Amino acid sequence: MKDMRDLDTEAAGILRANDRGGYSVPTAGLYPYQWNWDSAFAAYGYAFLDIDRAWVELETLFAGQWADGMVPHILFHKVDPSYFPGPDIWGGVGPVPSSGISQPPIAATMARLVWELDKEAGQARMAALFPKMVAWHRWFMAARDDGNGAICLTHPWEAGRDNAPDWDGPMKRIEPHGIAPYERRDTGHVDADMRPKKADYDRYLYLVKQGHDCGWDQAHLREVNPFRMADPTMTFSLLRATRDLIWIGEELGTSTEGLSDMVVRMESGAATLWNDTIAAYDVRDTKTGAWANAVSNAAFLCWYAGIDPKSTAHTYARVQSKVRFGVASHDPDSPAYEPKRYWRGPSWAMMNMLIAMGMDEAGLPEGAALRQQTADMIATGGFAEYFDPRDGAPAGGQNFTWTAAVWLGWCSPNVRRGRWAQSH
Ligand code: DGY
Repeated sequence: MKDMRDLDTEAAGILRANDRGGYSVPTAGLYPYQWNWDSAFAAYGYAFLDIDRAWVELETLFAGQWADGMVPHILFHKVDPSYFPGPDIWGGVGPVPSSGISQPPIAATMARLVWELDKEAGQARMAALFPKMVAWHRWFMAARDDGNGAICLTHPWEAGRDNAPDWDGPMKRIEPHGIAPYERRDTGHVDADMRPKKADYDRYLYLVKQGHDCGWDQAHLREVNPFRMADPTMTFSLLRATRDLIWIGEELGTSTEGLSDMVVRMESGAATLWNDTIAAYDVRDTKTGAWANAVSNAAFLCWYAGIDPKSTAHTYARVQSKVRFGVASHDPDSPAYEPKRYWRGPSWAMMNMLIAMGMDEAGLPEGAALRQQTADMIATGGFAEYFDPRDGAPAGGQNFTWTAAVWLGWCSPNVRRGRWAQSH
């Protein structure tokens, strides 16, 4: 294991190296653009190095907001051939070349953590961001409510959990016709065994083509898109972030009208995601009503969302007993579990942080244990994109922004802490 102070220096160096001037890339080569939730974590990490740079990260992200309020999952500030699919394939319709889908809305939660580190310095910047974040949350409610108050995704990349077994059933049903021949770039950067398979990519591109061809018309997509999953990642992150928005609005002394109604609606939506069979919150296919029957790390965001965890603690104890480093992204007891393949098993430092935040707030001792495991994982495997949860071996991309940010703000025993981390 490495010395903790070396890790602080390394983490700071990774944030600086991934800075492209006003925005961060998740890592050079594999992901050469600004990704939405990666960027929110980058802001959080920067808050411990350079608070002005933290605000700039969020401001650049919201500069890409579409007229309808959507904040895209990728902003293509400067074309880079090392990534596919690029801006021409997506055909985003916002002020900055972009993708056409969103990503888990954690920006308001991270903005709150940044602001809490220096309320006075951040006052005007938070006041300017607040209405943009509200507009984004309203867009989710208008475009992604499943009809019960649970929030849907319309592409596996929207949940960030690209190849999670949760999507296997609905993805198999898609016939990916009409996509142009393409060359993947991701497997030129990372071992193919750690990435999604070709069959997944064909379907990712098919879904992108559907959106591109209709100019990302949400009403049309609601009718034609075969992939519409009510999902714990989206529901829990939006619910949590909306609670944070209410807090922010009250602190700013500005109107929070409509936000409490969103919270109430999502609280009932979240309850509909409880699947008794697996004793966890689960993904439901809104087209068929079928459960994924998959225990994912997103299920453990229930505490973070501040909702009734039901018997999730038992399920958490079961899956945790099978691994040593953090929360496996898919149930280690499942036949679909692959501990090195992206979202089918590996442990993700930033998911561990969100899960533990919720546990800490709920007064559960598991949060502190999870922080220690995540720190040990990074000390063992470095600043990887994700890790094998059995031995902490690094997997995916290296020199990763969000892993460095999580180290700086949450894992490192040396770095000045924000109020939330201090009190837990
Ligand atoms: C990718 O290209 O792997 C990304 O996860 C898409 O967001």
